[in-house]
Amino acid sequence: MPKPSMIAIDGPVASGKSTLGRLLAQRLGYRFVDTGAMYRALTWRAIKLSIDLEDEEELSQLAANTKIEFAPPGDNVLVDGHDVTREIQDWQVEAGVSLVARVAGVRKVLVEQQRGLAQKGEIVMAGRDIGTTVLPHAELKVYLVASIEERARRRYLELVERGEAADYEAILADLIRRDEIDSERPISPLQPAPEARIIDTDGLSADQVLSEILSMMGEG
Ligand code: DC
Repeated sequence: MPKPSMIAIDGPVASGKSTLGRLLAQRLGYRFVDTGAMYRALTWRAIKLSIDLEDEEELSQLAANTKIEFAPPGDNVLVDGHDVTREIQDWQVEAGVSLVARVAGVRKVLVEQQRGLAQKGEIVMAGRDIGTTVLPHAELKVYLVASIEERARRRYLELVERGEAADYEAILADLIRRDEIDSERPISPLQPAPEARIIDTDGLSADQVLSEILSMMGEG
């Protein structure tokens, strides 16, 4: 295929989208956008303002009135000018983000911003609905899957590496809960686009997955 200008990488929680997206973008000299970080950033702001995460009206208004940006170094996430790159990984955000991401008014605002970010092309965008909704015309759509145990193991190791407390069973239970919310919400549920190339990453290293994607593009 001719070199794609827009690449969508979707998949469930901890399927390796961000790691792969970053590696691929680096390799191609493209921009990487992690759309999960945008939903997390908004969730962080909502928690800070003590907004009820079940209040769709308030959350939609908040989305419309909050400025979320990506800034160097390393694509830090800014909310109304505050760097929240670390905070958006906190468990409070992690626990609440699926609720915020199911709100139609929130998705409408963030999807529009994501399309804006992709407008100039040369972009790798990772999320849940990039191939189906945000960038339906992306020339390459990849959908990563991995078993729930493998995904829990990766999350566990990530937390341990960051020096944070980690409980494998609790992580596994949370992944199951979040998969359910993400898959069963009525708007943009987690599902591959019909033309997406599905890669099962169980037992594969990030470099092996990268090679597979590059070979789909006729590179590598
Ligand atoms: O990829 P992640 O774990 O950072 O995503 C955080 C949450 O945001 C997750 O519950 C799914 C949701 N999300 C979404 O609904 N649509 C996207 N494009 C990206 C993330």
